Amino acid sequence: MGRIAYVNGRFVPHGQAVVHIEDRGYQLADAVYEVWSLFDGKLADAEGHFARLERSLEELRIAMPMSRRALTLVLREAVRRNRVRDGLLYLQVSRGVAPRDHAFPGDEVRPAVVITVKAIDRAAAEAKAAKGVGVVTTPENRWGRCDIKTVGLLPNALAKQKAKEAGAAEAWFVDELGFVTEGASSNAWIVDTDGRLRTRDTNANILRGITRHTLLEVIAGEGLAVDERPFTPAEASAAKEVFITGAGALVLPVVAVDGRRVGDGTPGPLATKLRRLYIERVRAGAV
Ligand code: PDD
Repeated sequence: MGRIAYVNGRFVPHGQAVVHIEDRGYQLADAVYEVWSLFDGKLADAEGHFARLERSLEELRIAMPMSRRALTLVLREAVRRNRVRDGLLYLQVSRGVAPRDHAFPGDEVRPAVVITVKAIDRAAAEAKAAKGVGVVTTPENRWGRCDIKTVGLLPNALAKQKAKEAGAAEAWFVDELGFVTEGASSNAWIVDTDGRLRTRDTNANILRGITRHTLLEVIAGEGLAVDERPFTPAEASAAKEVFITGAGALVLPVVAVDGRRVGDGTPGPLATKLRRLYIERVRAGAV
């Protein structure tokens, strides 16, 4: 059975799913998105992603295309029609279709909604996590509102390509003070030389990761503390452990920073444990 996409009220075969050439997401990146991981065909961390979607839309003054309840039903139907158990669901909401003009169109223009679902190979993802991945660093060059999850991802795409060409899985942006902000599609963490968990605070210009947020709760549940304080790439290379979090990565151990091995070059015990605990938690709470 082929993949099915949702475009503005219709489920259509993936290969025939199209948006208008004057969709403002396409021309102006005037659109936001969310990504949910799927466990057993259910949405993980559902509430957090819905709340951030609503916030992103509000910040850009784009209307919620439908109620959260109705949207939940559409997302579930998209998963069902694709028969995906383990995977990722992508939702994009643009300001809509209107003749090209930088300023907003009138209220008669309705937001445009696109949903895609893809399966992932959980065993392959676990094998990747068991081996760990590399990250490279790159100068921060994004706009000042990275807290809004917009599709304006060109700097992120360029950074990810740089990582790929270096044989790494993720790129970390580094600000003008020399501190890591976050990854191209994940948040960044270390277990520093004192054994303290550290991740950048959300007053910085970063996305407030839903995985990050849930993991903070998991960590608190383990009786561990987190220092929400920036770190440099040098501190990361010297750290006991390094990992990244995100709907795609979940909790993914990092074993090299800019080609320098972290620890003994294998995934750290805490990162490995936190991955397991995070997955257990979201799997149990998926809806
Ligand atoms: N990216 N930082 C950035 C820049 C991101 O794009 C993402 C997620 C995260 C982690 O956020 P969360 O834990 O809510 O997924 C942090 C998604 C997965 C993507 O672009 O595909």
